[in-house]
Amino acid sequence: MDIQKKITTRYFRQKKEKGEKILSLTAYDAPTAKFAEECGIELLLVGDSLGMALLGYKSTIPVTIEQSLHHCAAVARGAKFAFIVGDMPFMTYHPSVKTAMTNAARYIQEAGVDGVKLEGGKVISKTITRLVGAGVPVMGHIGLLPQSVLTQGGYRIAGKTKDEEQRLIEDAKAVEDAGAFCIVLECIPAELSARITASLKIPTIGIGAGPKCDGQIQVVNDILGMFTDFIPKHAKRYANLSEEMKKAFTAYASEVSSGKFPGKENSF
Ligand code: KIV
Repeated sequence: MDIQKKITTRYFRQKKEKGEKILSLTAYDAPTAKFAEECGIELLLVGDSLGMALLGYKSTIPVTIEQSLHHCAAVARGAKFAFIVGDMPFMTYHPSVKTAMTNAARYIQEAGVDGVKLEGGKVISKTITRLVGAGVPVMGHIGLLPQSVLTQGGYRIAGKTKDEEQRLIEDAKAVEDAGAFCIVLECIPAELSARITASLKIPTIGIGAGPKCDGQIQVVNDILGMFTDFIPKHAKRYANLSEEMKKAFTAYASEVSSGKFPGKENSF
């Protein structure tokens, strides 16, 4: 699909109403953003997964706002039409609503993204209301929350008990009522995310949350086979670029060693 017009938040609500799936991926650099939107990807999230996907960290926790803004600006330069969301890193929106507002402004004004994402449900709803009130589109995120890995004691599927189920339903509603334009459901049982999706007017974007969400998002490095530490159960590999890169590096190294490269055609 060839996107020809800048995508706005209204487009996503209309897609949900029409029963059309929202197409989303993470992106961290300009060329990936360009290729993805040329292939019809409508929403690009500059996730704090940047930490693991690109920066070599073990979790999203060490990612700083400066690192995130740097990559957001690259994605904003690469994509013309896709809606770009900057994922606010750990502790950049928690200390106070004022901190969240000041930092969110940097995403919009300095990095040139179209909206921001915050993790959390009810606890963060007041901040979402204030941001939206100030004109910042907000994407919510509930379920598995990578920024809470330290308090949650690891990465766990969310919503497996009746209490957790109820909490997620209430969190989703709180995020919608606060004014978010869509919400990520991460690692939630498919049946529960189907119920949440049916109960909300705003679209749900699933990752490990089953097929009934209004859209899907994946970490681009996972689907391209660029992240080799492990393959999350929710991810499917559509390419094996790590192997392709290794093949190319091996061939290059071998040709430089043997003197085959550079040949006449690469010389002046
Ligand atoms: O950081 C990220 O990539 C995310 C997605 C998993 C939704 O938050």
